[in-house]
Amino acid sequence: MDSIHICGGYPLSGETRIQGSKNAVLPILAATVLVDGVSTLDNCPDIADVQCMVRLLQSVGCVVEWENGQIRVDARHIGGISLPQKYVSRMRSSVVMMGAILGRMGRVTISYPGGCVIGKRPIDMHLEAFARMGVALSEEGNTLTAWTRGLSGNTVTLAFPSVGATENVILAGVLAEGETLIRNAAREPEIEALCGFLKCAGADIQKEAGGSMLRIRGVSRLSGCRYRVPADRIVAGTYLLGCMAAGGSVCLKGADSDALSAVLAVIAGMGGKYQCGQDGITLTAPERVQAISYVKTEVYPGYPTDLQSQLLAALALADGESIVEETVFENRFRVVPELVRMGACMETEKNRVIIRGVRALYGKKVAAEELRGGAALCMAALAAQGDTHIANRHFIDRGYQAIEQDIRNLGGRI
Ligand code: EPZ
Repeated sequence: MDSIHICGGYPLSGETRIQGSKNAVLPILAATVLVDGVSTLDNCPDIADVQCMVRLLQSVGCVVEWENGQIRVDARHIGGISLPQKYVSRMRSSVVMMGAILGRMGRVTISYPGGCVIGKRPIDMHLEAFARMGVALSEEGNTLTAWTRGLSGNTVTLAFPSVGATENVILAGVLAEGETLIRNAAREPEIEALCGFLKCAGADIQKEAGGSMLRIRGVSRLSGCRYRVPADRIVAGTYLLGCMAAGGSVCLKGADSDALSAVLAVIAGMGGKYQCGQDGITLTAPERVQAISYVKTEVYPGYPTDLQSQLLAALALADGESIVEETVFENRFRVVPELVRMGACMETEKNRVIIRGVRALYGKKVAAEELRGGAALCMAALAAQGDTHIANRHFIDRGYQAIEQDIRNLGGRI
């Protein structure tokens, strides 16, 4: 059954352990292609996007074993250089495989990773950076071929601190000849995790200027190592905002508060009381959340775009008017009409949503259109009076390992 049924209107109470990070494990899995050995990754989430990335690794000759959250990748005998369209089209983050395969094999063919409902999501910055590192590119239809006689380090200045472009340049740089300097690099915690894995495998990467500059000195090879994937900050943020919407109190084991400081600041502004300890984050929601006059999504360390839809769900019930501005993607308000159908009073104006808090939301039949909007509907459903059916749950399964179990652990009725 491709749907989720939630009986809402009850405050949450409980604790759950936060899964490993989707957006950290995906580039790290791509990075295992660079390793002439066996890489062991702990705390990997069992989600559709990771299953897809494992297929991509196998398609180029990696031997992959996966049991109980641990993935072992043996990349000693890789040979393939082309990534099957059926996997690439399902997950655009497969584009980071380009940097890894170029770094190891010097040649890669990939079908253009599709955009998705939240935006066009071009890869122009990725390709410009590769060209500066000695890569030639050619397109046939929507198949892209990239090859090089040898990657050479260079200075790459990103027009925008793109997460994927930063990851691709790091992956292309770690085995390149000479030094690569990335200016205006993305500073998301997932970049930190990728660099952590690569350094554990023997790469030479230095963070400068607070992380907005990365200096990568090429080495001759990387060797197998073991690395633990950090907790997923977006999954943790989703449940914090769900608690703010439904009320009650929750404890999120393993959640890293440092990676959520901008989100916690907004939650405090809404009246949430939280504590951060060694083992995670505890949050108690107010009787009724306070409105936030203005929040805008930004690159890290600003408020994350991946928690924008979930914030709308929480502010729908706030006491007052809030404005949320989306500055990273051009079309990331797809969840608004469904929230309005549940009784929310919100309207979009260009890249802003104006939210007038209401007293109650009501259970409805709704449909997810993409990953984070789908998660936001689940959080709204926990707060809504009555039953909500959320169709297209496969979108949610791309990023949430066990959303039913998590919500049940937190006291929700799902
Ligand atoms: C990563 O996507 C994440 N995905 C996204 O999470 C996240 O929303 C995004 O970073 C921003 O934080 C993964 O890590 C797998 P970008 P990515 O390159 O790398 C434009 C989720 O829900 N751009 O930082 O694709 C682009 O169109 C997903 O888990 C160019 O114009 O994000 C977008 O508007 C959704 N040209 C903006 O930059 C380029 O060459 C940010 O994109 C590259 C990007």
